[in-house]
Amino acid sequence: ATSEGEILGSLYSKGIKPDGVQKLSKEMVKMVCKEYEVEVIDAAAVRVEEMAKKKEMLDDDDLDKLEERPPVLTIMGHVDHGKTTLLDYIRKTKVAAAEAGGITQGIGAYKVQVPIDGKTQTCVFLDTPGHEAFGAMRARGARVTDIAVIVVAADDGIRPQTSEAIAHAKAAGVPIIVAINKIDKDGANPDRVIQDLSSIGLMPEDWGGDIPMVKISALKGENVDDLLETIMLVAELQELKANPHRNAKGTVIEAGLDKSKGPVATFIVQNGTLRRGDVIACGEAFGKVRALFDGKGKRVDEAGPSIPVQVIGFNNVPLAGDEFEVVNSLDIAREKAELRAEYLRDERITAKAGDGKITLSSLA
Ligand code: GTP
Ligand code: MG
Repeated sequence: ATSEGEILGSLYSKGIKPDGVQKLSKEMVKMVCKEYEVEVIDAAAVRVEEMAKKKEMLDDDDLDKLEERPPVLTIMGHVDHGKTTLLDYIRKTKVAAAEAGGITQGIGAYKVQVPIDGKTQTCVFLDTPGHEAFGAMRARGARVTDIAVIVVAADDGIRPQTSEAIAHAKAAGVPIIVAINKIDKDGANPDRVIQDLSSIGLMPEDWGGDIPMVKISALKGENVDDLLETIMLVAELQELKANPHRNAKGTVIEAGLDKSKGPVATFIVQNGTLRRGDVIACGEAFGKVRALFDGKGKRVDEAGPSIPVQVIGFNNVPLAGDEFEVVNSLDIAREKAELRAEYLRDERITAKAGDGKITLSSLA
């Protein structure tokens, strides 16, 4: 063992005089560790690794069974800036035009085969609403995504939900790609948007920064290929992996009560493979998967990592944002659901009693 005094002495001898408050630089720490033959652990790197594990829901057992999985991309941005139109162009559909009032009100999850360099690549897109009332959905999207695609209309520029979306992406620690949209419109000024983005800390790659920015027209399809190529490049760098050979777990994207189907939930499977007949615990709900449906409403037998599926078979409606996992028996599932319900009830009581404010005395 080495005493503090010894280390201090050795630092002093090198002309470094830590005063007990001053932080040592990385270089200094490495130097000291080397001298005393102590292994250097880079806390920041460990933290990133932990975050990656948590986000992808990987356990240590998975690490030697990992396989590539498709990227999950969340399209975010201010209301009306063209998110659904962009996704429509990519999917060759016309959802945007059919939406009531032209405003998206829920999260859509779509598996898309994207043609890149003569091959097709699977991508999963989440379409989020831009209306300010739906902040929770944007936050949820950012939480399960690998890459955030921020859409900014070139005739409107950075608006409140643009900034909010950027903040969510940063909080989730995911890479950002900016699509500057509506460049076909009169009054579009994409360069001004780039300028403004750089002034709030998003430095474009073209200027030596790390944020890819692509000028597009989602309506006309102009440069959307470039955008997709950029997306695939960023996705490749992330080396996204999961273990498909295990029980599934993931997150509820949306849930509700369907008149004919009963409680339904859209899941994103984040690790493992979900199958018909699997028993799931999902927040306060539980049940046996009666049927799985893909994005087109077609029945499927299973869903692997990154894939969104609609699931029926719960005892009641789970909450969007809940995590789900496959367990070995209905008894275990019920118990987990009850524990979760109990935990949430206690939390509500605590929040009520303490007015939601945490004080020193309430902690004691
Ligand atoms: P919310 O989901 O409600 O936040 O809106 P959104 O971002 O999904 O916008 P949406 O795709 O619904 O498009 C809004 C309007 O902008 C529609 O009338 C689109 O036709 C139009 N629009 C979208 N992209 C473009 C574009 O590239 N050029 C032009 N000229 N219009 C566009
Ligand atoms: Mg929309």
